[in-house]
Amino acid sequence: MTISFDNRVAIVTGAGGGLGRAYALELARRGAKVVVNDLGGARDGSGSSDAALKVVEEIEAAGGAAIANGASVTDEAQVEAMVADAKSRWGRVDILINNAGILRDKSFAKMGMDDFRAVVDVHLIGSAVCTKAVWETMRDQAYGRILMTSSSTGLYGNFGQANYGAAKLGLAGLAKTLHLEGAKYGIKVNTIAPTAATRMTEDIFPPDMLALFNPDNVVPAALYLVSDEAPSNMIVGAGAGVVQAAYVTLTPGYALPEGARTVEEVAANWDRIASREGEIVPQSGAEQAMTILKALQRA
Ligand code: NAI
Repeated sequence: MTISFDNRVAIVTGAGGGLGRAYALELARRGAKVVVNDLGGARDGSGSSDAALKVVEEIEAAGGAAIANGASVTDEAQVEAMVADAKSRWGRVDILINNAGILRDKSFAKMGMDDFRAVVDVHLIGSAVCTKAVWETMRDQAYGRILMTSSSTGLYGNFGQANYGAAKLGLAGLAKTLHLEGAKYGIKVNTIAPTAATRMTEDIFPPDMLALFNPDNVVPAALYLVSDEAPSNMIVGAGAGVVQAAYVTLTPGYALPEGARTVEEVAANWDRIASREGEIVPQSGAEQAMTILKALQRA
């Protein structure tokens, strides 16, 4: 089975370099018309350049169709204009990959709230702004594919990235509710946690690992998650050609007996509460509430 993106229109944010560029090139190679968005700033979000234009030139040189866009994902008016541009040229928007991002790493003790807000603004608010701008179009089309970009930092934590981790797990949360709200309109929403050697991580990877963690090795998982065949509500780790699934699980827990709902009872039963035996993956918040009622019935 060949997975084609013929007649699909895709927007990839932050696609002037790194992972976004790799996604844009392969989407175009497989037939999609691509909006290559990037404001072209430095790693911390400062400045601007024509990075998106260079990627469009690459796509066109290979016979593909693309337009460059320099909107900041945080600017609602610019993002709405980007979506309007794509629709006036190609009539629809099928795919949005929210990929743009910046870093302002510091230990929490040294981090100012300006660095916290700037990172949450680009990753979390920026992804919400872009998603909001395509949401109605996707509902009207009864077709949409949205990919959020999380990170191992968001899912599991990383020293010096409190701002980034908060934004990145926020994106997984955003995806879970949009998955529920988009389901009846044919909109599938997933989250990727990539690992790749890009300028964002250039100081983390030892030189002999650079080839292994080439962004191209993340592309197959990312493109599957925005294809016709895509699942929905998945959190997928991808790096060096390894593809993983991450889940937000829930243990069966322990129902404190009536008359013994005390701090001491929680302490005494902590191992049972935390035990992962029989854990599940609820498909909605309501499902967690149902498990509470079940735990009471069992007790
Ligand atoms: P990158 O720095 O090459 O790409 C990010 C792009 O976003 C840059 O081209 C930048 O100009 C653009 N950008 C920044 N602010 C923007 C804004 N306001 N509007 C539009 N574009 C903007 O880094 P990389 O690694 O390709 O990152 C892509 C995504 O993957 C990011 O969301 C990053 O957090 C995420 N990620 C990357 C990992 C890795 O191992 N490289 C690990 C986990 C997550």
